[in-house]
Amino acid sequence: MFAGDEITGVDLDSWDVSLPAPVWLPEVDLVLHAAAWTNVDAAEDDPQGAAIANIGGTQNVAAIGTPLVYYSTDYVFDGTKRTPYVESDGPSPQGAYGRTKLGGEAAALASGHAWVLRTSWLFGWTSTNFVRTMLRLAAERDEVAVVDDQRGCPTYVGHLAAATREVVDAGLPYGVYHLAAQGECSWADFAETIFEEAGVECRVRRITTEELGRPAPRPAYSVLRSEQPGTPVLPHWRDGLRACLERLEA
Ligand SMILES: NC(=O)c1ccc[n+]([C@@H]2O[C@H](COP(=O)([O-])OP(=O)(O)OC[C@H]3O[C@@H](n4cnc5c(N)ncnc54)[C@H](OP(=O)(O)O)[C@@H]3O)[C@@H](O)[C@H]2O)c1
Repeated sequence: MFAGDEITGVDLDSWDVSLPAPVWLPEVDLVLHAAAWTNVDAAEDDPQGAAIANIGGTQNVAAIGTPLVYYSTDYVFDGTKRTPYVESDGPSPQGAYGRTKLGGEAAALASGHAWVLRTSWLFGWTSTNFVRTMLRLAAERDEVAVVDDQRGCPTYVGHLAAATREVVDAGLPYGVYHLAAQGECSWADFAETIFEEAGVECRVRRITTEELGRPAPRPAYSVLRSEQPGTPVLPHWRDGLRACLERLEA
């Protein structure tokens, strides 16, 4: 989506964003800021550490002074609604991860030159994510237990990248936008569809969040839709899944 552009990739080894930007950083036209403390459970034990990365880090990234895309999360909402969350819904994070990402949103917006793109349940062909974890587990066992009482929009990173490009190229006003896949499902629905689409044999045992017993609270419902004019509409999550599986097979 940004292929053809000159890209400077920055990771934790080259710039810990909790520190000011390094002097070697070249001048750029746009910053895509995805660095974050993303361990939702560990953030409960070390909220200060999460804040340093997610809020302080975003302040340092915003201080570069160029237009900025800040990726934020459905976890800024408490999940008590049963209709999709839109940008005008008041955030009310339940845990330290959501609170610090919301603080990061404020830091980005305070710069006056940021698009805050809230997205959800990301998956892709690299790194660790739900699709790759499910495929790995299916190769090892006949059944997986998956939570069935959290609903959201599994969003393919390729579709998010394309939508990001559209937001930037369209010159949408700086502010908050919801960018998540069409459709909605539970994690258990998603797991079953992954196995169907990948043609692998593995049963899904549907369990509750309580049964899973994770330390941090998660929103029970976090479907995101946009009410902002001009916001790109992402493809359905099933299309994202097919695109991801094709890429994984390739
Ligand atoms: N995954 C989702 O479902 C989801 C949903 C909504 C929004 N988001 C947002 O999307 C972005 C990317 O998420 P992801 O799932 O790809 O997470 P991820 O795999 O954990 O990626 C975050 C990256 O940030 C790096 N990082 C952590 N602390 C840093 C620091 N102080 N300085 C520089 N880099 C640092 C991590 O490095 P190490 O790996 O070396 O620790 C990692 O490479 C995050 O902002 C996240 O909040 C994710």
